[in-house]
Amino acid sequence: MTTLKNDLLLRTLKGESVERPPVWMMRQAGRYLPQYMVLREKFGFFERCQTPELACEITIQPIDIIGVDAAILFSDILVVPQAMGLEVQLIESKGPVLPDPIKTINDLSRVRVPDVDDTLNYVFDAIKLIKQELNGRVPLIGFAGAPWTLLCYMVQGKGSKTFDEAKGFCYTQPETAHKLLQMITDTTIAYLKKQVMAGADVVQVFDSWGGLLSPADFEEFSLRYIRQIISALKEMAPTILFAKGAWHSLEPMAATGATALGIDWCITPQVARQLAGPGVVLQGNFDPAKLVSPIPVIKKEVKQMLAAFGGQRHIANLGHGILPNIPVDHARAFVDTVKEFQSSRTTIAV
Ligand code: CP3
Repeated sequence: MTTLKNDLLLRTLKGESVERPPVWMMRQAGRYLPQYMVLREKFGFFERCQTPELACEITIQPIDIIGVDAAILFSDILVVPQAMGLEVQLIESKGPVLPDPIKTINDLSRVRVPDVDDTLNYVFDAIKLIKQELNGRVPLIGFAGAPWTLLCYMVQGKGSKTFDEAKGFCYTQPETAHKLLQMITDTTIAYLKKQVMAGADVVQVFDSWGGLLSPADFEEFSLRYIRQIISALKEMAPTILFAKGAWHSLEPMAATGATALGIDWCITPQVARQLAGPGVVLQGNFDPAKLVSPIPVIKKEVKQMLAAFGGQRHIANLGHGILPNIPVDHARAFVDTVKEFQSSRTTIAV
C-alpha cells in the first residue's frame, strides 16, 4: 500500500491536532471546470461514470487544477437505484429522470437488493484505478446517497424542490416506504463496504433532502437507516454524514458514531458545535453561491468562516455542491485561503 503524502484529512478525522484544516469541495469534479466540459461533450453522463478511465480522469482534475486536499470519486448517488433495477436518465437542463418511479407496493417487485459485485463493479474498478493514479497524493472519498434522498428520486421520478410525492408515499404507505428504505439501506451498506475494500479512504453519505422532513419524520424515514449504514461502516473507515438542512438533528446525528458531520451555511459553526458536541469533526459550510463574489471578498469571508470553526476538528468545504457558473480562479481562491490559514493548536470552538 502506498503511504499518503497528504494525510491532513485523515489526521483531522482521527481527531488529531493539525496545522490547518483540510479542504475539498462537494461536486469539485464538475461543470465549472473547462477540462470536465471537454469530456462532457464527448461522452454521456453514465458513460463517464461507468468507464473507469473517464471516472478516474475526472476525479483527478480538481486535484491538479485546484489543489484540494482530497479526491472524491466521480460517480453519482443515482447509480444505486439503477443497480436496484430502475431506469435512470440524466436529461440536459432537466436533471435526473426515472421514467418508471415507485408508486405502490406492486412496484416493489421491480426493485431488488442486487449483488453489488455484478451491478456496480465499474465503481470498484474506478476506485482501484484512481488510487493507483493518485499514487498517494491525497486520500480518496467514496460516497453514496442516504436512503431517504434516494427514495425521493425513486418515488418522485425527478428532481423537486419539495419532493411532495415522495413524502406523500411515506405518509400514506409507510410500510411500503420502510420496505423500500430497508432495501436501499442493505444495498448501500454492501456498496460502501466494497468501496472501502477497493481503496476508498473515507466514505460520505449525502442526505441532500433530509432537511425537507420534520425532526420526527427525519428520525423515522432517514436517520434510522443512516444509523445502520454508519454502524456497518465505522469499523472499516471514517464516515462523513451530510444531511443538508437537518441541523435540528445534529445531536442524534453525532450519536450515530459518524466521524464527521457536514453542515450548510444556514447554521453558524458555533451553534453547530454546541448541538453536535465537542468530539465530532465538522465539515462545511461556505455558501456556494458566494463564490461569485470578488476574490478579496471570498478571501475575507473564508477567513471568517475558518476562525468561527476554530481551526481544529474542521474540514473546510462548501455547504453544498459548487455551482457550474463559478470561475475556476474563485474556486482556487477558496482553497488557497484555507491553505494559507494557520490553526492555533489549542482552540477548538465549543
Ligand atoms: O462531488 C463530486 O465531485 C463527485 C461527484 C458527484 C456527482 N453527483 C456528479 C454529478 C457527487 C458526489 C454527486 C452526488 C449527488 N448526485 C447528489 C448529492 C449531493 C448534492 O449535490 O446534493 C445528488 C442529489 C445527485 C443527483 C444528481 N446528479 C442531480 C440532481 C444532478 C443534476 C443536477 C446537477 O447538479 O447537474 C446530477 C448530475 C451530476 N452528478 C453532475 C455531476 C458532475 C452534472 C452532470 C453534467 O451535467 O455533466
